[in-house]
Amino acid sequence: MKCGGGRFSEKSTDLLTKINSSIDIDKRLAFEDILGSKAHVEMLAKMDIITKKTKAKILRGLKKIEKEIIGGDFNFNDSLEDIHMNIEARLAEIIGSEAGRIHTARSRNDQVVTDLRLWMRKAIIDIEVELSKLMISLLEKSEKSIGIISPGYTHLQVAQPVRFSHHLLAYLEMFGRDIERFKQAKERLNECPLGAAALAGTSFPIDRFDTAKTLGFRAPMRNSIDAVSDRDFVLEFISASAIAMVHFSRLAEELILWASIEFDFISLPDSLVTGSSIMPQKKNPDAAELIRAKTGRVNGALLSLLTVMKGLPLAYAKDMQEDKESVFDVFDTLILVIKITKELIEKMKVNEINMYNAASNGFSTATDLADWFVRELGMPFREAHSLTGKIVGVASRKNIKLSEFSLNDLKKIEPKISEKVFKILSPENSIESRNSYGGTASREIRRQIRFWKRRLNA
Ligand code: ARG
Repeated sequence: MKCGGGRFSEKSTDLLTKINSSIDIDKRLAFEDILGSKAHVEMLAKMDIITKKTKAKILRGLKKIEKEIIGGDFNFNDSLEDIHMNIEARLAEIIGSEAGRIHTARSRNDQVVTDLRLWMRKAIIDIEVELSKLMISLLEKSEKSIGIISPGYTHLQVAQPVRFSHHLLAYLEMFGRDIERFKQAKERLNECPLGAAALAGTSFPIDRFDTAKTLGFRAPMRNSIDAVSDRDFVLEFISASAIAMVHFSRLAEELILWASIEFDFISLPDSLVTGSSIMPQKKNPDAAELIRAKTGRVNGALLSLLTVMKGLPLAYAKDMQEDKESVFDVFDTLILVIKITKELIEKMKVNEINMYNAASNGFSTATDLADWFVRELGMPFREAHSLTGKIVGVASRKNIKLSEFSLNDLKKIEPKISEKVFKILSPENSIESRNSYGGTASREIRRQIRFWKRRLNA
C-alpha cells in the first residue's frame, strides 16, 4: 500500500521506496504507536466520532498486533514506509475496512511525534536508573578510598595532594547534574502533540485533554503547528547525552592514563582488558578507550540533528524522519557506556603506594609552604609565593623534596623559617589543612559523602 495511494497512477521506484522507508528504524516505536492509537480510539468513541462497536473491533485488532510483535510474528514491510503504516495496514488485514477509522482526526505528523515523546519519556527513566546505579558505585568507591592520597593535577602537572575520594566525588557531581538535565528535559517534553493532526488541528470534536491524560502527558501542546514541527525535545535529549558523554570520556581518559605503566595508579582486572595480537605483554584498556571514542558518535548525532532542523520551514517536513536513528543510537550508546563505566569503577584496583608517591612528588606542598609564610611570618601572599619559588628552585637543583631540606639550608634562604615548617610539608598535613567548604580535608569529604548518601537514597 502506497501512502496517499488514491492520488497516484504509478507505484514508487525502488529507490524512492528505499530512501523513504524508515521501518527498519522506527519499528522500535511499535508499542508506543499502539499505545497512542488506543488512547486516540478510546477518545474518538467517547466523543461519538466512531461507534463503540468500531472501537472494540479496532482495540481487538491492535491487541493481536501487539501479540504478534512480541512473539516476533509481525511482518514489517519496507514498502509500507514506516511503523504507522505497517500497523494500520495489518489492522486492515485483521479487521477489514473499519481499520481506516483509526486515522480519523489524526495524521502521521502528530502520531510520530507522540510516539517519540512517549518513547523518550521512558528512555530517560532508564537512563536515570542506570546513572543512579553508577553513582552509587562511585559513592561506595569514594567512601572506601577516603584514606588514599593522590596527586591533584592542573595542566596534568602535579599541583596539590588530594584525597582520591575527592577526585571521584567530582565525577559524582557531574553525573548528578547530568541526571538533572535529563529530568528537566523529560519534564519539558511531557506534553501531548496528539490531535494536532497534519498541522492545523481538526474539524472533528476531539478531546485533546482526554488523550493527553490517558497517555500520562501533563497537557496537550498548545499550538498544533509547533506540536508537529519542532524536535527541540530530541535536541535536548541528545545535548544532555553529549554532555554526559563528555563526562564519561574524561573519566575514561583518566582510567587510561592511570592504567598506563608510567602512572600505574590503577590496575584493571583481566576481565576488563584486552590483549594484543602481536605483543604478548599487553593489557589494553579498550573498554575505556571505546567510551572515549563513542563520545564522537553522540556529539556527531547532536550536530547531525541540529543541521537537519536548522533550515526547515514550518510545519512538518520529511527531514525530521532522520531524527530517530540518532536518538536510538545515542540512547543505546549511553546505556552501554554507563553500565561499563560502572564495572570499571567497581573492579579497578587502586595502587595506593604509587598514588601516594606521586602526590608527594613535584613539590606538591609548595602552596602549603607559601601559606605558612603568610600565616606564621605575616608575609603578603605574593612575596611568600616568590620566596617559595626560590626554595623550590634550590630543591630542584639539589634534586630533593621540600621535606628533605635541613633547617639550616632553609634558614640560609629565609632566616625567619623555624622547625615548625616541617609539619606542613607532608601530603597528609597539606590535605587536612584544606578544610574550606568543598575542600579535600576528611571532614569535607565526609560531608560530601553524607550529601550523596542522602541524595541517592531519596
Ligand atoms: N515516518 C515519518 C517520520 O518519521 C512519519 C510522518 C510522515 N508524515 C508525512 N507527512 N509523510 O517523520
